Amino acid sequence: MSVDLSPLFSPIDIAGLSLPNRLVMAPMSRYFCPDGIPHADVAAYYRRRVEGGVGLILSEATYINHPSAECYRGVPRFHGAALEGWKTVIDAVHEAGGKMFPQLWHVGSFRQPGMAPEPAVPGLGPSENTNPAAEGDAATRAMTDGDIADVIAAYAQAAADAKRLGFDGVELHGAHGYLLDEFLWDRTNRRTDQWGGDHKGRTAFPVAVIAAVRAAVGPDFPVSLRWSQWKQQDYKVRLADTPDMLGQILRPLADAGLSILHCSTRRVWEPGFPDADPARTMSGWVKELTGLPTISVGGVGLAQAGIKSSGAASLDAVAAPLARGEFDLLAVGRALLADPNWPKLLRNGRAEDGKGFDKSQLETLI
Ligand SMILES: Cc1cc2nc3c(=O)[nH]c(=O)nc-3n(C[C@H](O)[C@H](O)[C@H](O)COP(=O)(O)O)c2cc1C
Repeated sequence: MSVDLSPLFSPIDIAGLSLPNRLVMAPMSRYFCPDGIPHADVAAYYRRRVEGGVGLILSEATYINHPSAECYRGVPRFHGAALEGWKTVIDAVHEAGGKMFPQLWHVGSFRQPGMAPEPAVPGLGPSENTNPAAEGDAATRAMTDGDIADVIAAYAQAAADAKRLGFDGVELHGAHGYLLDEFLWDRTNRRTDQWGGDHKGRTAFPVAVIAAVRAAVGPDFPVSLRWSQWKQQDYKVRLADTPDMLGQILRPLADAGLSILHCSTRRVWEPGFPDADPARTMSGWVKELTGLPTISVGGVGLAQAGIKSSGAASLDAVAAPLARGEFDLLAVGRALLADPNWPKLLRNGRAEDGKGFDKSQLETLI
């Protein structure tokens, strides 16, 4: 490797967690749980990434126990019969020496009627009709106070179950335009009650979820929140136009009980607010604004893994924010799908030109 990425391989104690290195498997939906239960193939898939050298695994997003939480088929649930499956997953990860958080998910207004598990249940969001693809009978319904209380309780139950099963922490999916993010975003949260209003009011629901999760797992269990500027609906929009506004959004969330903030960017090395600082990455800003440890993600290793993407760049691009200490952990998604041994390749200097890659698993993606 042409630049020094060796600090990625130094152990770190973070949020009460001892990790062997800084590399995290990014959460990636794989839709290989047709009955909503993670089976032995899923346990083996995650175990392979631990054996390949990743320090912490964030699971594919997994549904909390509310009939409005689901949208896509094949996504695992985090309740009922699926919990036994998750137990085999975490046991396999631990046996291989790894650590893992489940990523807890409610899809918000992406849901449309007719979807499992209760076809009559509509999409729920902060406000009506927030899903541009849904009209008429398919329109999203604004959540009532009762819905809000039920969904908060479902997040808390899932977090308590994660702890009971032996997971090492939980991540809340608060990014990409799904439910928690919809509450934060002015375009989708048009409420005028206690769950909306200005950007502080729009944090009230995520704050209540985080506080309930923290109360359910106690003071020491790691709780991460993944957040993003960009949305599935629109890659170009932004949650916050300035660092000051971002601080006003993220600080109440941090204070509600977070241990880690996971900044879902599309390219780790890009500046978060170029007008304010031409170099500092989003994760660097978030560390300064909240004082919390951060995970950064986006575009790492793509070119080397032979994955075509406008975000592909040399691994050198990671070196500057790494050297400036702008992230504590670095999540890697697609490169780890391309080769579960990606961390080992990187460590041995064989990830740079892609020649060390074994892409035989790309076809089956397990
Ligand atoms: C197949 C696939 C599924 C994904 N599913 C999720 C998900 O369930 N939850 C989530 O927060 N992000 C999800 N993402 C985004 C990734 O976690 C990650 O942020 C993104 O792929 C950028 O990282 P990369 O360039 O290293 O792949 C997914 C990405 C991919 C490619």
